[in-house]
Amino acid sequence: MAAAFGKLFYRQLTVKAPDSFPQVPGKTYIITGANSGLGLEAARTLSRLNAAKLILGVRTISKGEEAKQSILASTKRDASTIEVWPLDLNSYSSVIEFAQRCETLDRIDGVLENAGVDLKKFEKSADSGDELTIKTNVLSTVLLGILLLPKLRDVSLRYGIVPILSMVSSQVHAMVKFPEAKDPNIFDTLNDEKKTKMSERYFLSKLVLMFAFREMSDKMTASGKKGKVIFNNVAPGLCYSGLHRNNPDIEAGPQALMMKTIARSTVDGSAFVLPALFVGEDGHGKYINDGKAEEPSSYVRSKCGQEAQKKVWKEIMQKLEAVSPGVERLI
Ligand SMILES: NC(=O)c1ccc[n+]([C@@H]2O[C@H](COP(=O)([O-])OP(=O)(O)OC[C@H]3O[C@@H](n4cnc5c(N)ncnc54)[C@H](OP(=O)(O)O)[C@@H]3O)[C@@H](O)[C@H]2O)c1
Repeated sequence: MAAAFGKLFYRQLTVKAPDSFPQVPGKTYIITGANSGLGLEAARTLSRLNAAKLILGVRTISKGEEAKQSILASTKRDASTIEVWPLDLNSYSSVIEFAQRCETLDRIDGVLENAGVDLKKFEKSADSGDELTIKTNVLSTVLLGILLLPKLRDVSLRYGIVPILSMVSSQVHAMVKFPEAKDPNIFDTLNDEKKTKMSERYFLSKLVLMFAFREMSDKMTASGKKGKVIFNNVAPGLCYSGLHRNNPDIEAGPQALMMKTIARSTVDGSAFVLPALFVGEDGHGKYINDGKAEEPSSYVRSKCGQEAQKKVWKEIMQKLEAVSPGVERLI
């Protein structure tokens, strides 16, 4: 774990953000959590690269409209190239409605599942009773990804392209232990306030997301369905964004100096996210960190990690099948 921190510090100070990407005329991208931070800057870059259509998935429409105006002001593109659609990952029905609306798009070239939270207060989602960090960063993110697969495969077959689905993860997946993996039901423990350390919850959510990502990408490879889709996950490094709004230490406490010294801007952070949308077919199943594919933590790859991964996946599927029957068969 100390090694993971050391690596983070070193790389934050030495790795330069990618600064050029191919033009994307005619292409359509969906970006969740696109009203602020890395999502907003990724959308701005795709607009600058001449994307034909951008769908900004946001939970507050007025914030999404502001983001759209901010992008248009900097790129001078036509307003019709950007649409703001409601998406609240706290609500499964919102996720399902968003996915259904995506089916009306003619094509989708890339989906950046970027929306995420780092909550410090334990709170449960109204519809499913799951702790909100886990619901947002993992359960709804996975549900949306799976629900979009049939459309992405259809686009692949109709246009002869390989659309990309990418989930934004984090190096912090390597900086937390997962004793919950040994409990009879992992998510019951994660939803028990008495057993929860909220200071670690964000890190844990990204570890659980890493497990879900790896299992899902293997299942996509094995399913052999027609229509190719590349599925990857991408870590942007530590960035100074709205993510830390619930963490007072970031502004004034012991973490403030670290943030000032090593955190990237949201523009640079987005430049570390975008490579995920420009990989070839060999980028399927890959974890992209600081712009390059690399292995996730040794725990994730260990025998214990693999057992935890299977258990996490089984429980996620039990939960998602209850809200969207047949969802696992879509993979
Ligand atoms: N910043 C970092 O150091 C860092 C490092 C590694 C990974 N990441 C990941 O990068 C991604 C983007 O984070 P960021 O740093 O850009 O933070 P941010 O500025 O807080 O952006 C997060 C975005 O997610 C949206 N969001 C949160 N909850 C949502 C929900 N229930 N439904 C729909 N949208 C929701 C937020 O919308 P609202 O404005 O409405 O809240 C916001 O647009 C996250 O997945 C984060 O975990 C960040």
